[in-house]
Amino acid sequence: IPPERIRNFSIIAHIDHGKSTLADRLLELTGVISKTGKNKQVLDKLKVERERGITVKAQSVSMFYEYKGQQYLMNLIDTPGHVDFSYEVSRSLAACQGTILLVDAAQGIQAQTVANFYLAFGEGLSVIPMLNKVDLPTAEPERAAKQIESAFEIEADRILKISAKTGLGIEQVLPAVIEQTPPPPGSAEKPFKALLFDTWYDTYVGVVCLMAVKDGSICRGDRIVSSHSGTKYEVMEVGVMHPEQTPTTLLRVGQVGYIVCNMKSIAEAHVGDTFYRDRFPVEALPGFVPAKSMVFAGVFPIDAGEFDRLNESIQKLTLNDSSVSVHKETSAALGQGWRLGFLGTLHMDVFRQRLEEEYDTNILITSPTVPYQIKYRDGTSKFIRTPADFPDANTMNDYVESTMEPFVISTLIFPEKYLGSMLELCTTHRGELQNHTFIDESRVMLKCRLPMAEIVTDFFDKLKSKSQGFASFDYEEAGYDASDLVKMEVLLNGEAVDALAAVMHKSSVIVAGREIASRLKDVIRRQLFDIIIQTTANGKIVARETVKQLRKNVTAKCYGGDITRKMKLLNKQKEGKKRMKRIGKVDLPHEAFLTIVKRS
Ligand code: GTP
Repeated sequence: IPPERIRNFSIIAHIDHGKSTLADRLLELTGVISKTGKNKQVLDKLKVERERGITVKAQSVSMFYEYKGQQYLMNLIDTPGHVDFSYEVSRSLAACQGTILLVDAAQGIQAQTVANFYLAFGEGLSVIPMLNKVDLPTAEPERAAKQIESAFEIEADRILKISAKTGLGIEQVLPAVIEQTPPPPGSAEKPFKALLFDTWYDTYVGVVCLMAVKDGSICRGDRIVSSHSGTKYEVMEVGVMHPEQTPTTLLRVGQVGYIVCNMKSIAEAHVGDTFYRDRFPVEALPGFVPAKSMVFAGVFPIDAGEFDRLNESIQKLTLNDSSVSVHKETSAALGQGWRLGFLGTLHMDVFRQRLEEEYDTNILITSPTVPYQIKYRDGTSKFIRTPADFPDANTMNDYVESTMEPFVISTLIFPEKYLGSMLELCTTHRGELQNHTFIDESRVMLKCRLPMAEIVTDFFDKLKSKSQGFASFDYEEAGYDASDLVKMEVLLNGEAVDALAAVMHKSSVIVAGREIASRLKDVIRRQLFDIIIQTTANGKIVARETVKQLRKNVTAKCYGGDITRKMKLLNKQKEGKKRMKRIGKVDLPHEAFLTIVKRS
């Protein structure tokens, strides 16, 4: 198939607006998957993704489609829908020329619709607007179309109205893509040049690289070179995703396909890298800014004997997610472990769930923190990934010029009646209002500058509860600014527990200090002695609580009673023990390490 009849496109949408369902419909229509419901939702491959109904890792599929008597090769490049993964969105977009902007006709434009639109617009892609879920009784396609018109300057009559669920209007989708998306540029005569935009580890063939061929062609046996490292590789297999890896004899200009070569580990595959044919160097494509970790958390085995097994699990998981950064960490309280860096809190949760489910590991995860920056008087500066590294209150004034924290610009979209509570939410999280505009008669888009740390805690949950689920939220990074930061320490019976320390803004100290102490009191079980909990900041005690000693045997009250009840109680205790860590003489349950996140 010549490049004129190839279309590389993606679907961008807010979470739950129906991207995966639309992709399934298109794959059925083109016969890539059957209608029997067997291999549904090929795009959402990972188990966690299916469970949570979110796409985390981008997948891509090639399909054939006949239009006006001619065969077209349609490459659908999948993009994740969540804020944490906007980095993956932009790298997937770099492989396409067009994108379907899918909007739920009942919900209208949401925060990620806006963010994704600007990413696509910035890449210079043609945007093909579509309204989905028009079958819903609550659908208001006219209103949603007006929002699209006013927010993105797209004419309302250009917008297709479809239902990915019932199949209504589906037959118009691929023709619209063909007509509104330019074919991939590039030349068959020029030497081979390809952009690596995704990579994963396959148990059978090893590292698989997904590439968009920009010029020339490639086949098995060719030798290719990475512009990034200069390393030479021999191509062992080329093919397309249809929907699984399907070998072909050749990958040509304009195509999107996979290449297996003798790469040993996924660390060699740099997303954004340009590959060329050995002895025919080309100018490298712009590439991508590497993913930045914005949330860090400590991960420790509960039982030190599990260290090696956990190490293996983390390595296996990061094999397919190069956006997780891994550093070894030693905590006085928790022993040897790791400090992992994630793109955001959802990314962290997904990773944790995978670690627990797929590898059945018994782990402790500490409260997430953002990367703080310390500027010293001698002109140097340092990023702080763990509160334990934050300068000591005593020496702070001698060496430190300023403490800095990362900020974001957030976009919130919600019905007008929540304007008051949304403004309040932003100000109580140290937000600085930038502007608010109406995207239709009754929906507001609000822009606000917030410290990243505020989002890492409970911002999202509160946003949802205060707006009864009607507000959506997205953010982009907005650099660092000086901020009055303090380290809060937690002492148990007079001893500081490094894994419970947290960095926070000075203004939060009193409230957070009291709350952390009282939450710890709630989660720490009574033991055979009193446990004094103290929180301190700048060497001063902020709050103090006591967990009174235990007097009676827990099961004593059951003696002579119902045996099943006693078993239940003991089992419950056993359950609890599974996730306990002994610090000094005190047993701390897993929840203790997360008390800092859950501020009220
Ligand atoms: P992410 O992967 O998280 O980005 O979500 P998604 O955009 O892929 O959404 P998905 O396709 O999983 O659809 C979300 C929900 O909307 C599912 O319960 C679908 O069944 C439903 N849905 C999708 N399209 C339609 C539609 O046209 N009509 C109706 N009524 N429901 C739909």
